Amino acid sequence: MSALGSEEHPLRVAIVGSGPSGFYAAEALIRTGRTVQVDMFERLPAPFGLVRHGVAPDHAKLKEPIRVYDSIARNPQFRFFGNVTVGRDVSVEALRAAYHAVILCSGAETDRRLGIPGEDLSGSHTATEFVGWYNGHPDYRDRSFDLSREVAVIIGQGNVAIDVCRILAKTVDELKHTDIAEHALDALAESRIREIHLVGRRGPAQAKFTNKEFRELGELVDCDPVVEPADVMLGPESLAELNERSGTVAKKNMEILQGFASRPPRGCRRRVFLRFLLSPVELKGGGRLESVVFERNRLEGPAGQQVARGTGQRLELACDLLFRSIGYKGIAMPGLPFDARQGVFPTRDGRILDDGGAAVPGLYASGWIKRGPTGIIGTNRADSVATVGSVLADLPLLDTGPKSGADGLSGLLAGSDRRVVSYADWLVIDRAEVERGAAKGKPREKFTRIGEMLALLGIPAP
Ligand SMILES: Cc1cc2nc3c(=O)[nH]c(=O)nc-3n(C[C@H](O)[C@H](O)[C@H](O)COP(=O)(O)OP(=O)(O)OC[C@H]3O[C@@H](n4cnc5c(N)ncnc54)[C@H](O)[C@@H]3O)c2cc1C
Ligand SMILES: NC(=O)c1ccc[n+]([C@@H]2O[C@H](COP(=O)([O-])OP(=O)(O)OC[C@H]3O[C@@H](n4cnc5c(N)ncnc54)[C@H](OP(=O)(O)O)[C@@H]3O)[C@@H](O)[C@H]2O)c1
Repeated sequence: MSALGSEEHPLRVAIVGSGPSGFYAAEALIRTGRTVQVDMFERLPAPFGLVRHGVAPDHAKLKEPIRVYDSIARNPQFRFFGNVTVGRDVSVEALRAAYHAVILCSGAETDRRLGIPGEDLSGSHTATEFVGWYNGHPDYRDRSFDLSREVAVIIGQGNVAIDVCRILAKTVDELKHTDIAEHALDALAESRIREIHLVGRRGPAQAKFTNKEFRELGELVDCDPVVEPADVMLGPESLAELNERSGTVAKKNMEILQGFASRPPRGCRRRVFLRFLLSPVELKGGGRLESVVFERNRLEGPAGQQVARGTGQRLELACDLLFRSIGYKGIAMPGLPFDARQGVFPTRDGRILDDGGAAVPGLYASGWIKRGPTGIIGTNRADSVATVGSVLADLPLLDTGPKSGADGLSGLLAGSDRRVVSYADWLVIDRAEVERGAAKGKPREKFTRIGEMLALLGIPAP
């Protein structure tokens, strides 16, 4: 038989998930110059993962990678199968039988937990829910957030926490020409929030914000950043961290923080309080959230490895709304090994490992479900190139017999039972969203219900 990857014997690869890691894996496969057929499966009718449903609506430029993904999707070696949940509509085993290799790029769709009393009180939410809600993710379409009181608290000091903070802090005029979901814009227009507390368990030198995002907090139309002068004083270990090569971003963040601390307030309607060395230990309330109890921390350990240690000193802050933005977590897939603590598939060089630590033939991972929930969009490119490198290195070891690809997945594409959203179908949805948005001066008005998207395509809702 001719070699795998030749015209007579194409390499068939299934990719699960259409976020950055999925598209960069597809790109890397297509660029090998071999004859490859890539089929991408996505649980939603709309592609692009967190670039569509995570990246903040007021950061339109950061969504530009979608243009690259669009050109990958138009390559004849690529097919998109939207509205197909792997593990429910089609099993990983069925994919393994139909393809030479399966690359799981399913991201990190749930959250880490604080593990403190009151965490699930009404009024306490995950950042994931709020982000999904304002970005029109169908899973979060019907969530509601009580924006009728004055104080909101955000736990965590990463870029997601900043996104949440900015969306709460901005005026409607700053948001109305973005692709924010209409239901969110309407609710935010009625928001009475005046104080937002952005709380870190460690100090300002350990905050995970990037400089551009942090600086932006000082550039909002009607919101003043507030910093305690004592918080810009650092201990010797933190000062040492700033002077290391890895400390460049933190050093700039400290300059930005000092700028916030020294500027006079403008008397804005809203204020963002940057608060440090505080860990939430309990959320209190009779039925719904009324206050959060923090323990004050000190930093312990050498520079670069400082951890937050409780001092026993507590303080209570009355608040009505709280967002936990302490990191995302991946979800297991039926029948596959999983590292539940880290929320990732156990891997070596992108190869998924069984419980004994041996690589499962033909099964790979990339992106957040491989590395955990860190890194910007571009980080996933090198990650997917590396995983595809492992696929190519393994070609002699794979089951090299001819594979059917999606055409052999019985029922999935069947005539009357049509449910799959192709890339051409997605382009119909895309055009309709852009048209809906144009009427309001927005780049698009997303469809936020799967049924609406399917109805547009004449696909009956499930
Ligand atoms: C709120 C937020 C904002 C961000 N903003 C930025 C930013 O502004 N700039 C930046 O550079 N980075 C940003 N990032 C980081 C960036 O989004 C991630 O690095 C990147 O999206 C991770 O890519 P991924 O492909 O691993 O996962 P994802 O983008 O999450 O893609 C995973 C895809 O898999 C699909 N899926 C899951 N399970 C299944 C299944 N069983 N069957 C089929 N499909 C499935 C999901 O629906 C999803 O489409 C942000 C992250 C978050 C959380
Ligand atoms: N504009 C952008 O480029 C953009 C926007 C959004 C997201 N992203 C990227 O997406 C990735 C994920 O962002 P993220 O904000 O979810 O994660 P992150 O950067 O890892 O930040 C998580 C934050 O949660 C804190 N935390 C974790 N566990 C905690 C606990 N038990 N109690 C209190 N605080 C806790 C962490 O503090 P410690 O440091 O003490 O652990 C940290 O401040 C990042 O790489 C980010 O840069 C980029």
